[in-house]
Amino acid sequence: MSQAATQSWRGIAAEEVEELPKGIALILRKRSRALLGDLLRPHRAAVIWIGLLILAANLGALAGPWLVGIGIDKIPALLRTHDPVPIIITVIEFGIAVTVQAFASAGYIAAIGRMGGQVVLELRSRLFAHFQALPVSFHERYTSGRVISRQVSDIDSISELFDEGLGSLVSAAFSLVFVGTGMLLLDWPLALAVMAGFIPLTWLTAWFRRESATAYRRTRETIALVIVHFVETFNGIRAVQSFRREPRNQEIFGDLNEGYAKASRRSMQLVAIYFPGVNLVGNLAVAVVLLYGGIRVIDHAMPVGVLVTFLLYLRRFFEPLQDVSQFYSTFQSSAAALEKLSGVLEEEPAVPEPVAPARLPDRPEEAGRGRALRVAGVRFGYRDQVVLPRLDLTIAAGQKVALVGATGAGKTTIARLLARFYDPDEGEIRLDGVDLRDLADADLRREIVLITQENFLFSASVAENIALGRPAASRAEIEAAAEAVGAAGFIADLPDGYDHQVGKRGGRLSAGQRQLISFARAFLAAPSVLLLDEATALLDLPSERIVQQALQTVLLGRTAVIIAHRLSTVQIADRVLVLDHGEVIEDGSPSDLLASGRGQYADLHQQWLRSLA
Ligand SMILES: Nc1ncnc2c1ncn2[C@@H]1O[C@H](COP(=O)(O)OP(=O)(O)OP(=O)(O)O)[C@@H](O)[C@H]1O
Ligand SMILES: [Mg+2]
Repeated sequence: MSQAATQSWRGIAAEEVEELPKGIALILRKRSRALLGDLLRPHRAAVIWIGLLILAANLGALAGPWLVGIGIDKIPALLRTHDPVPIIITVIEFGIAVTVQAFASAGYIAAIGRMGGQVVLELRSRLFAHFQALPVSFHERYTSGRVISRQVSDIDSISELFDEGLGSLVSAAFSLVFVGTGMLLLDWPLALAVMAGFIPLTWLTAWFRRESATAYRRTRETIALVIVHFVETFNGIRAVQSFRREPRNQEIFGDLNEGYAKASRRSMQLVAIYFPGVNLVGNLAVAVVLLYGGIRVIDHAMPVGVLVTFLLYLRRFFEPLQDVSQFYSTFQSSAAALEKLSGVLEEEPAVPEPVAPARLPDRPEEAGRGRALRVAGVRFGYRDQVVLPRLDLTIAAGQKVALVGATGAGKTTIARLLARFYDPDEGEIRLDGVDLRDLADADLRREIVLITQENFLFSASVAENIALGRPAASRAEIEAAAEAVGAAGFIADLPDGYDHQVGKRGGRLSAGQRQLISFARAFLAAPSVLLLDEATALLDLPSERIVQQALQTVLLGRTAVIIAHRLSTVQIADRVLVLDHGEVIEDGSPSDLLASGRGQYADLHQQWLRSLA
C-alpha cells in the first residue's frame, strides 16, 4: 500500500475516532442529551410508567430480606407457644413482596424494550432521511463506510442499550439508594462497615473506567480502519481483481484485523480483572458482616434477624454494581453512538431549501419550453482550490450552448453549480431571474436536469428507472420516451422488455444502455434546462447518431448546456464556449469561431476533422 493511501486511511479512522466523547461515557454531552431528550419526548408517559415499575420492583426487593429478618426474630418467642401463625403471616407478606418484585420487573423490562424499539425505529428513519438530504459535498467528505457505521452499528448499540443496559442502570441506582437507606435504618454501625467496601470498589472502578475508555478508543480506531479497507476493497473489486491486488489487500487486511483483535483482547483482560475484583469485595463484605454483625449479636446490640437481613441485602448491594460494569461497554458504545449520531443530525444541508421559496414566472406556450440562465460574478472552489475565479455568463432561453475545454478546466464544475449541487462562494446564478437559492427543491429538480456519464440506475425494472423522471407518468408515456431517445429497440430485446430488472446500479445493462435509459428519463422529466456532461461519451458511433437525432427532439425549445470532448456531440449547439482554467476564453457561434481560423475551438475542429479522415 502506498504511503499516501495508508495516510488517508489513518485520516479517515482518526476523523471517525475524533467524534468519540473524551470524557466519562456515562456523562453525555449537551447535543447527545438534546437528541436523547428529543427521542424520548413522545414517550413521556412510558418513561413515568417505567420509573414507577422500577420503584415498585425495588421496594419489593427491599421488603423481602427485611421480612425474612423479622420472621427469624419471631422464632424464639414462638418456641414457647408452638403457634406457627405469626410465621405464616410473615411468609405471606414475603410472598406478596417478591411477587410484586417479579411482576414489576417483568413489566419494566418489557416496557423499556418496547419503548427502545420505537425510539430506534424513529432514529433510524430520521437518520436515513437526513443522510439523503445532506449535500453531495458532505458525502464526498463522509465516506460510505462511515454512513454505514452510523446506520448499522451505532443504531445497534443504542438498541442494545434499551434491550439490556438501561433497565439495569436505573435499577442499580435505585437499589443502591434503597438498600443503603434500609441498612442504615436497621443498624447504622454495621451499615457503615459495609459501606467501607466502597473505598476499594471506587478505586477499582475508577481504574477500570479509565483503562477501558482507552481500550475502547483503541478498538474503535482499529475497527474503523478495518471497515474503511473493507468498503474500499469491495467498491473497487473490479480494479482489485484486474490489477491482482488481492494478496496485498489480504495482507493489509490481516494487519488491520490483527490490530483489532489485539485491541479487543485488552478489553477482555480488563473485564477479567474487574469482575472477580468486584466479586471479591462483595464477599469480603459478607465476611465483615458475619464477623462484626456476629459480635454485635453476641453483645445483644442487634437481633440475629437483622444479621440475616444484612447478609441478604449484601447481594442486592454489590450485584447491581457488577451488572452496571458488565454493561459498561454497552453504555460506552451507546454514548459514543449517540454523540456521533447527534453530530451527523446536526449537519446542516449546505444547499439549504429556502424558507420562503420564490415562484418562477409562467412561460407562455409560444415562448418555447426553455428558460434563461444568468451566471453573475460567480466564484467557486472545492475547499481551498479555486476552480472558477469569476464567471459571468448569460444563456438565453432555448439556447444550446456547447462547453468545451481541456480536462480539468472546470466544465463539470459549472454544470454542478447550474444544477445546484453546490452553491457559489460568491455571485449568483439565476433561472429566469430567480436565484437558484430561492427555488424550492422540487421546482429546481423539475426545471433543471443534469445528465452525466455516471448515470445511476436503481435495482428496479427498466420502466421504473425511466419513470424516475416523472413518477406520475403512465406506461404509454414511458414507452414513448424510450421511443423518442431511440432506446425502444434494445429494450424490446431484453428478456422481460420494460419489466426487465436492471440489477444493482444497473449492472445488468451495458454502459450505453444505461445512458439511453437516463436520456429517456430526462425526456420524460421534460425540464426547461438540460445539462449534458459527457453524456454520450459511452455510446458507439451509430448509437451516438441515434441519440444526436433524439437530442434534437428532446432539446426542442429547451435551454441546454452540452459538455463534450467529441465535437460530433457539439454540432447541434448554436453557441460554443471554450473554457480554460475556469475562464471563458472564446464565445461565439460555431461558424464564427471556425471562420476566425485561430483559437482553441478552431484547433479542436481541425484535429477532429483529421481524426475522421
Ligand atoms: N469533488 C471535487 N473535490 C475537489 N476538487 C474537485 C472536485 N471535482 C473537481 N475538482 C477539481 O476541480 C477542477 C475542475 O474539475 P472539473 O471536473 O470541473 O473539470 P472538467 O473540465 O469537467 O474536466 P473533464 O474534462 O476531465 O471532465 C479540477 O482541477 C479538479 O481537480
Ligand atoms: Mg468533467
